[in-house]
Amino acid sequence: MSNVKLQLPAGPRWSKLLELSQKYPVTANADGTEHPPIMQAAGLSVDLSRCKINQDVMQSLLALAEECQLEQQIAALLAGEPVNNTENRAAHHTALRAPSGGAAQAEIDAVQNKIRSITQQLHHQQWRGSGDNVITDVVNIGIGGSDLGPRMACSALASLKVGAPRVHFVANIDPRDLELTLETLQPENTLFIISSKSFGTTETLENALSARQWLLQSISEQDLGKHVVAVSSNVEKAVAFGVEESNILPMWDWVGGRYSLWSAIGLPIAIAVGYDNFRRLLNGAHAMDQHFASTPLAENVPTLLALMEVWYVNLCDAKSVAVLPYSHELRLFPDYLQQLTMESNGKGVDKSGNALTCRSCPTLWGSAGTIGQHSFHQLLHQGTELIPVDFILPLQSASTDNNKQAHLVANALAQSKALSDGKSAADAKQELLSKGVDAEEAERLATHKAIPGNRPNTIIAMDQLTPENLGALVALYEHKVFAQSVIWGINAFDQWGVELGKQLSTPIFAALNDDDNATTSDSTTQYWIDRFKATSR
Ligand code: F6P
Repeated sequence: MSNVKLQLPAGPRWSKLLELSQKYPVTANADGTEHPPIMQAAGLSVDLSRCKINQDVMQSLLALAEECQLEQQIAALLAGEPVNNTENRAAHHTALRAPSGGAAQAEIDAVQNKIRSITQQLHHQQWRGSGDNVITDVVNIGIGGSDLGPRMACSALASLKVGAPRVHFVANIDPRDLELTLETLQPENTLFIISSKSFGTTETLENALSARQWLLQSISEQDLGKHVVAVSSNVEKAVAFGVEESNILPMWDWVGGRYSLWSAIGLPIAIAVGYDNFRRLLNGAHAMDQHFASTPLAENVPTLLALMEVWYVNLCDAKSVAVLPYSHELRLFPDYLQQLTMESNGKGVDKSGNALTCRSCPTLWGSAGTIGQHSFHQLLHQGTELIPVDFILPLQSASTDNNKQAHLVANALAQSKALSDGKSAADAKQELLSKGVDAEEAERLATHKAIPGNRPNTIIAMDQLTPENLGALVALYEHKVFAQSVIWGINAFDQWGVELGKQLSTPIFAALNDDDNATTSDSTTQYWIDRFKATSR
């Protein structure tokens, strides 16, 4: 591991943690104590036995959480207080999955009824396209939180798919995304969902315009309402864009984009797997909300995961974390988590605008096991960086092929053990000798074959990937992200960092389109504008 001098905020709790990090170098489980190994929360079993954090460290982390008033902050979040202080808004996504969402319940009920109604009409072929055609395909046009959550959930719950209509997702402004999706579809049989909280996102609006043109090739303007619905908190803009008001499912400013799959942004999920399964997803998330709300911090699983990562990042110098779902159906989960975690906590100032004095959100990456084992796992096992790993492990899958499922589970467990235990150079040498390799060669190869081990990892398991368990899993990470934001003093619910790039693209786009008034101020950009023009057809 590198020996970068870590910067920490001032205060006795952080000093104590620093002291402990020196006593228990890097992540060594120095006194052999393991923190409570398997925790249960909302149907998930979370194995912390390889987290490499001993009781001393955990007690100190819990004291830090108390000092940061985490319990009070959790209560404020769940009560719908305006925790997003740069936009003066609540982040009350938990209300969407509660049996009673408080003051907003009537509005929430109305939207959920509309989701159910559209879903049932499509499933019963009562929602008809132009010329009384059956809707066979639904295309969700949206990006970021208006895409990643429903896309991931539809993939994760593929085994529950109703089958018809098929659900597709288009996010990118790259024209090929929409074009390739529409290649096999027919306008008369296709319903578009334009999903945009703001209804101001260029990618989504451009794709929606192209979809409209595509529809108008075969259907009349009057029939557009049979082929376009929208989800937005800006109903006015959606109407101005041409969506019929009765076809707009509202959402609210108190639901952040990356926390919105529980709202009408989840409509594609209900269409793909049925409304009842969508409701089961909400129920699972609610069960995790209850755990988060009422479990003491020392047994509160999202809190423990958050604190452990604070230890790895701020005291053990981890710069990235990997999330490895051992489940083909969860292969999009890391993509989803990237927005959830990095758009939330990828911040450099605290809630008061002061520069952070410690590192905040690590880079999150990952992909489905076992594929990564034949690619980047080398780095996890022998690289110079400490990269904590979360293994997401549904023990059973929808498949009846128990043999392959057992292989999958064996690999997940083996990777966890290998990261944790490693292999000494002496053992590596012995292994070579026992295979008949001569002593000199065994000595030469031993250090190459040694695996340092002591690399922290957590197994987050469930019996099966049910909608409830998926809901609980997503909510677990939502709450982990929130708990970390409290420790780092960050507002997890804004994302100002994405704005500059959007602003800068406007004049560049104008210049690419030969707008005489377009000005670009730097030679690098101008060079690429000229190259683009030279290649354009
Ligand atoms: O640009 C970032 C972002 O605002 C995300 O936070 C959001 O999920 C995404 O764009 C899409 O926004 P909208 O749903 O308003 O189109």
